[in-house]
Amino acid sequence: MKFSPLTGRIGGTGADAWLTHYEAVAALERGEDVIILSVGDPDIATPAPVLERAIERLRRGDTHYVAAAGRLALRQAIARSHAARTGQAVTAENVVYLAGAQNALFVASLCIAGPGDEVITFEPLYPTYPATLEVGGARLVRAPADAALRPDVGTLAGLITSRTRAIVWASPNNPSGLIFNAAELAAIGALARRHDLWLIVDEVYAGLAPGGRVPSLAAELPERVVTLGSLSKSHAMTGWRTGWLVGPRELAVKAELLAMCMLFGLPGFVQEAAITALEIAADAERRAREFCRVRQQRFSAGLRGVPGLKLLEPEAGMFMLIDVGATGLSGEGFVRALYASQKVSVMDGAAFGSATAGCVRVCFATDEARLEAACARIRRFCTAELSGGRAALRR
Ligand SMILES: Cc1ncc(COP(=O)(O)O)c(C=O)c1O
Repeated sequence: MKFSPLTGRIGGTGADAWLTHYEAVAALERGEDVIILSVGDPDIATPAPVLERAIERLRRGDTHYVAAAGRLALRQAIARSHAARTGQAVTAENVVYLAGAQNALFVASLCIAGPGDEVITFEPLYPTYPATLEVGGARLVRAPADAALRPDVGTLAGLITSRTRAIVWASPNNPSGLIFNAAELAAIGALARRHDLWLIVDEVYAGLAPGGRVPSLAAELPERVVTLGSLSKSHAMTGWRTGWLVGPRELAVKAELLAMCMLFGLPGFVQEAAITALEIAADAERRAREFCRVRQQRFSAGLRGVPGLKLLEPEAGMFMLIDVGATGLSGEGFVRALYASQKVSVMDGAAFGSATAGCVRVCFATDEARLEAACARIRRFCTAELSGGRAALRR
C-alpha cells in the first residue's frame, strides 16, 4: 500500500535517542530499581484546585463538544496571562487553545510553511522540532550555536534566503536552559522585519524563568510573532495536554480552521481546569520554580568534582547539560554505559543537534532522594570508569 509524502517527513523524531529511556520505563514497570532522568516531566502533582475543578466539571456533565478554538473564557484568560507576561495587548481573538505547545507548534508550522519554504531554528533544539517543522513540506535550516551554546545570531543573515518563511526558537531552551537575551532578540527582530519573516517562539518553559517571564518580541512585532505556551511544565500538567498559540488575528483564524479539522474541539472539563490553573498561575509557577531551583542546586552539589564531567548550568527550566567529553565516551556511549552499569537513564545530547553532541541531558525535576541516589550512581560510574574501566565501557 502507498502512503502520503507527509509520512516520509515525520520519521525524523530522533526516535533512537529515546531507546534507553523506553528501556528504563519498561524496567521500572517490571519493578526494577532504575532512575529515570531522561524525560522532562516535573515530579510534582498537578495543583489540587485544578484537579478539583476538572472533577467537578466532569460530574456536572461537561463532557460534550466544545468550540474548536477553545472556550471564550479560557481564551480570555490566556490572553490576559500572555499580555501580562509579554506586554503585548491581545484579546481572545488572538488565541487558539490547543493540545499542548507541541500541538501548537504543529499547527503554527502547517499554517506558516509548506513545500519549497525554509524554516530556520537554532541549535540545540528540541528533538520533535525537525519533523514538526518539516511536516508541511518545508525544509528545516539549522542555525548554529556559539561555544557557550548561545544562538549565534551573527550567522543568521547568511542562512536567510528568498524561501525563508520563519525563525523558530524555544526560550528558555530545551536542552540548554538558556534564555534568549534582548540583544539576541533585537538581532533576530531586525532580520525578521527586513525579510518579512514569521517568528515562532516556544515559551513552554517561560513560567520557570526568573519572575515567570522571558524577554519577548511579541509587543514590538505583533504582526509577525507567534507565541506558544502551555501549562505542562509550570503546573505539572504534562498529561492534560493544555497549550495554545497567540498571534495575529489572521493566523488565529487559520489555526482555528486547522484545529477544527484536526481536533474538533478539546475536552471542556480540561478547559475549565485550565482556567483555574491560570487563575493560580503566580503561585503554581513560583512552586515549580522553587522546586527546580532546589533540585538544580542539589544535583550540581551532588556531582561537583566528579571526574570527567563538566556541568553546564541552565538559566531556567528543569534540564542540565553535562559535557562528558573528558570521560572519553561519546554522549551516546555514556548514556548506554551509565544505564547498563547503574540503571540511571539520561538523554544523549546529540539528539538536540551537533552543538550538544558530547553532552548528555539530565532532567533534575525529580524527588530529592531519587536525585541524590542518581548523583551517587553517576559518581560511582565515572569514578570506576576513570580508574581503569574505560576500555571496557567503550566497547
Ligand atoms: C521545547 C519544548 N517545546 C514543547 C514541548 C511540548 O510541550 P507540551 O507538553 O505543552 O506539548 C516540550 C516538552 O518537553 C519542550 O521541551
